[in-house]
Amino acid sequence: MSDGFVRVAAAADIGENANRAFRVGDYDVLICHTREGFFAIENLCTHQLTEMEGGKIRGCYIFCPLHGQRFSLKDGAPIGQLTDKPVKTFPLRREGDDILIRPHPND
Ligand code: FES
Repeated sequence: MSDGFVRVAAAADIGENANRAFRVGDYDVLICHTREGFFAIENLCTHQLTEMEGGKIRGCYIFCPLHGQRFSLKDGAPIGQLTDKPVKTFPLRREGDDILIRPHPND
């Protein structure tokens, strides 16, 4: 914990291609489980500021459940016409079954 990472969830609680939101510090963080591992983004679509929880995951992308904008889970970049603003991403690491994030977004 001294490096700022905090435990957020158990990996076993988030199935592959699923996601789940957690309040961490000042942010609503969405933990996403992909075939390539876990990623953390802010649970806030940059199109109309709605929650992304429940959005479909395909590969390392998530689709906003409201209008379908796609975002990269690796760097938050949007792919599509609805917004050019990326979603915030958070540093994440796994220790055994624990998922930890640093509750400050990447730049
Ligand atoms: S609110 Fe997410 S795509 Fe419109």
